[in-house]
Amino acid sequence: MDTLNLDEQSRVLVLTGAGVSAESGVPTFRGMNGLWEGNRVEDVASPTGFQADAQLVWRFYSLRREAAARVRPNSGHVALAQLEQRLGERFLLATQNVDGLHARAGSRRMLAIHGELFQSRCERCNVPFADSQTYFAPPMPRCEKCQGAIRPHIVWFGETLDPSHLEQVDAFIEAAGEHLVFLAVGTSGLVYPAAGMVDAARDVGGATWLIDAAPSDDYAARFDHVLRGKSGEILPALFGR
Ligand code: OAD
Repeated sequence: MDTLNLDEQSRVLVLTGAGVSAESGVPTFRGMNGLWEGNRVEDVASPTGFQADAQLVWRFYSLRREAAARVRPNSGHVALAQLEQRLGERFLLATQNVDGLHARAGSRRMLAIHGELFQSRCERCNVPFADSQTYFAPPMPRCEKCQGAIRPHIVWFGETLDPSHLEQVDAFIEAAGEHLVFLAVGTSGLVYPAAGMVDAARDVGGATWLIDAAPSDDYAARFDHVLRGKSGEILPALFGR
């Protein structure tokens, strides 16, 4: 296996996707064939889906919350939290996962760029909704401030990412320059802008690593190093002190 050499100046940016949580028992997106109970995921994870059937959308996310609450972080999540402990501000994690497992493993320097399953907000005024329930049955809750509908705090298909998250990622890449080590772990590289981070990392002269059980040739071709296998096995070995 290629060895990851980190020195005093190295800055590590990690992008994770659904594959990191697979060994915890959370199904990946493409693993579900893009379908949930016969509905296309785009139809339940989109603003138009929410307008059309808020009840269906709440059921989908409630089931995902239940599933996420049942599982535990795996050795891949733990290895990333330990690397953060070692590197401090020279580490940043951008995760596409909404399951909260990185935080439960101890990651703190982390941006949940696709949102968080265990948070909700008003769709009109964006005020967070204090909810710990797994399922909202009718009547659906309304925002106390403006009576807007309450929606999951998830970046849906067709929505843009929080610009401050992208700014933080860009700033980290710029500051690191050639000292950047970029790792994409358990992500198919199909969804932008996350899928473009590897190109930004290469542009500043950083080293790029892909760790994935079954990477596509197209995505793998954009990395210097490709490690095929389970992140729960590879990450602890790669970061071994
Ligand atoms: P995908 O389901 O597209 O890809 C998961 C990747 O993980 C695949 O490349 C698998 O080969 C790999 N994989 C599976 N098990 C693994 C393991 N044990 N170890 C390492 N790799 C493994 O998931 P994402 O790339 O995360 O967006 O999907 C990106 C986004 O698409 C999601 O965040 C979601 C979806 O639309 C939103 O919800 C906004």
